[in-house]
This record gives sequence, structure tokens and C-alpha cells, in this order.
Amino acid sequence: MQAFDTLPSADGLWTQLRAIDGAPCALVVANGRIQWIGPPGAVPAEHAGAPRHDGAGALVTPGLVDCHTHLVYGGQRANEFAMRLAGATYEEIARAGGGIASSVRATREAGEDELFASASRRLEQLLAEGVCAIEIKSGYGLSLEQERKQLRVARRLAQAYGVTVRATFLGAHALPPEYAGRSGEYIDLVCNEMMPALHAEGLIDAVDAFCERIAFTLEETERVFKAARSLGIPVKLHAGQLSDMGGAALAARHGALSCDHIEHLSQAGIDAMKASGTVAVLLPGAYYTLRDTHLPPIEALRAAGVPMAVSTDHNPGTSPALSLLLMANMACTLFRLTVPEALDGITRHAARALGLQDTHGVLAAGRPANFVLWKLRDAAELAYWFGGRPQCTIVRQGRVARGN
Ligand code: NIG
Ligand code: FE
Repeated sequence: MQAFDTLPSADGLWTQLRAIDGAPCALVVANGRIQWIGPPGAVPAEHAGAPRHDGAGALVTPGLVDCHTHLVYGGQRANEFAMRLAGATYEEIARAGGGIASSVRATREAGEDELFASASRRLEQLLAEGVCAIEIKSGYGLSLEQERKQLRVARRLAQAYGVTVRATFLGAHALPPEYAGRSGEYIDLVCNEMMPALHAEGLIDAVDAFCERIAFTLEETERVFKAARSLGIPVKLHAGQLSDMGGAALAARHGALSCDHIEHLSQAGIDAMKASGTVAVLLPGAYYTLRDTHLPPIEALRAAGVPMAVSTDHNPGTSPALSLLLMANMACTLFRLTVPEALDGITRHAARALGLQDTHGVLAAGRPANFVLWKLRDAAELAYWFGGRPQCTIVRQGRVARGN
């Protein structure tokens, strides 16, 4: 992929575009920001002489936002794919020392440059499809130095690719083997040493935990949240993937940005999320990979008005997904989202799940220039095709990148 700082500037007047509702539109970029957007006949006089970019009738959308990924890790877990095909469950694999623990071993063995190289290849695939902002979690290191290594790679990826990265500290992802039987002590380490040190180094944008019977309890999760909030760091939670332990209500009480997975979620959890403005992040890739049959409560989330985001949950175990558009397709097909809901789910609601609602996920004057020009007739095609990639041109952080 071409080096970001050698890409051409997107500054100028972009014409011959169509908005998502099909209406003709134009937009002006200056100094890497959208200065104006509106109907082609209404371009302000001051911009009329700006250099022109011919959109050739393309459909324009905001840059896509992938709001839940575990992109940085060593190795891969195709063996578990085969084990599941032979009948093993996620829990059985985890309890037998596979699952997250196996990625922890491979990640600890890998050097920082090796992790950067493997994550770069995956990131390039997501970027080529129009992703302009992405969340990257730690959680395969599970010690101060090893979590630092993952988070540093996340920061380096942002620099190298000119992509907005939100780095999430997921120290409470799994119990590392050296703490077997001592989860309270491990949570002490996460809260009292790892989190403050990594925060002081500027490596954390949010804190996450895995609240589940194969991971951490509600009480342990709350300790992590309290530590995060005492440092002023926003929180989010993996909850309700295998069972409803009340994680969503806890997350909402702590003003969480998002609560993710939530196949198992009670009405009380939904009401709490609504009251706190917490985004529901739907992860159809994990649902599909695990051949889950317990659907998230979409109708109840919709009725309550909880914003629903859709993400890849890219990780080597339960969702080795490298296409956010495929996730939009699956959110419609498997979860019965409408196409507009799925498109909001990979743009504005995903931005909100990262606390980026004022800068990403919507096309508006004053925002950084992140948008995608699609060679498609109809916005519904973004969720309709799968297994290929629509042709597109991407403007990311004010520079023009070629898509597929
Ligand atoms: O989001 N649920 C916990 N974490 C990941 C899975 C990580 C793994 O299996 O490596 C998830 O699905
Ligand atoms: Fe996840």
C-alpha cells in the first residue's frame, strides 16, 4: 500500500457526487477538512474556483468506522476452526488451554515489529474497503510489557496509515496462566499497575473487560471500571456473549461508551443502556463463527431507541473477519437489521461507540475529511453484495487513497 504521506491531497471542490438518498451533491475540502457540503448549485462563491475533483456520479458516504477489533496479535487459530467443525465449543476450547490463551502465547513470543507487520496486512484490507477509523484492543499480552507492546503497535499503525485509531486497554480479557487461581490478584495488577502506567504513557483511549463465566465476574469488572474512571478513562464492555451476567447494566451505570456482543441481554439491561446513552455493538462475525443461535434482542433495542453499531470484532478465534461491509450484510441477514440501520451501524453509531461522534461517521462541514466514493447506484448495494469488494475511492484524513 502506498505510504500515507505520499498520497495526494483531497483539497478542492468535489463535484458529480450523489448523497446516500440519491440527491446530487458536492463538497469542498480545505486543509484536510470538509469546509462545505450541499447541492451542486449552491457551492459558495469563495470555493467556486477551487481545484476540481470529478466524482463521476459516485455515491458518497462517510468513512467507515470499525468500532471493535482485536487486530494486533501473534499467530492464528485455524486449528480451532477445525476443532469447532468437529464439535468442540468455544468454552471447551478455552478450558482446554486454547482460545484466548493460545493467542496470548503467540503474541508474547512475537516481537513488536513482527506484530506491526502482521497487523498492517490485516489493516490494509479493512482500509481498502473504506474504513477511516478503527478501534484496536490489547488483551493478548496480559502483563505490563506485553500489553504495552500491543498498544504501541496500535499507535504506530495510526501514524503509518493516517487512520484514526482508538486504542483500548483490555487487560481484563482473560486470566494469564501465571495467575491461575488468583484472579483477584491479577485484577489488582490490572488496576493498580498496568492501567496507570499505560495511561501515563498515553497509550489508552478506553478501557474494556470481558465479563463472562469463562473470563471475569461482575465484581472484578466493576473494579476495573472504577480504576478506569478514577483516571478519567471511558469504559466499554464485552458482555452477554455466552450468558447474561448483568454486565450491560453495570456498564451503563459507569456511563460506558458501548456494550458489545449482547446476544444475552435482559430488558433491564436495555433500559439501562438507553438511559446512559450506551451504544449496543453487534458482532455478527462472532455469532456466525460460533454458530450461535441465540439472537441479540434487536427488536427490543430498536423499540427502546438504543443506537446499534456493527463491527468486525476482528480476532483470530471467534471472528477472523476482514470485511466490515460483510458484517453489514450479516447484520441484515442474520440479525434482521434494515439496510439503513446497518449503514448507520458502520458509520455514525460506530463513531459514537468510540466517543468519536463529533468528528467521524457523518458528512458535515468542519469535520476531518474522511469519506468514500463508491461506484454503486444504490446505497443498499453496500450491504447487498458479499464476497467481493465494491470499487471505491477513499479520502482519509484529507488524502486520496485508492480503494479496490
Ligand atoms: O470479542 N469475547 C472475547 N473476546 C473476543 C474473542 C477473543 C478470542 O477468542 O481470541 C471476542 O469475541
Ligand atoms: Fe471482542
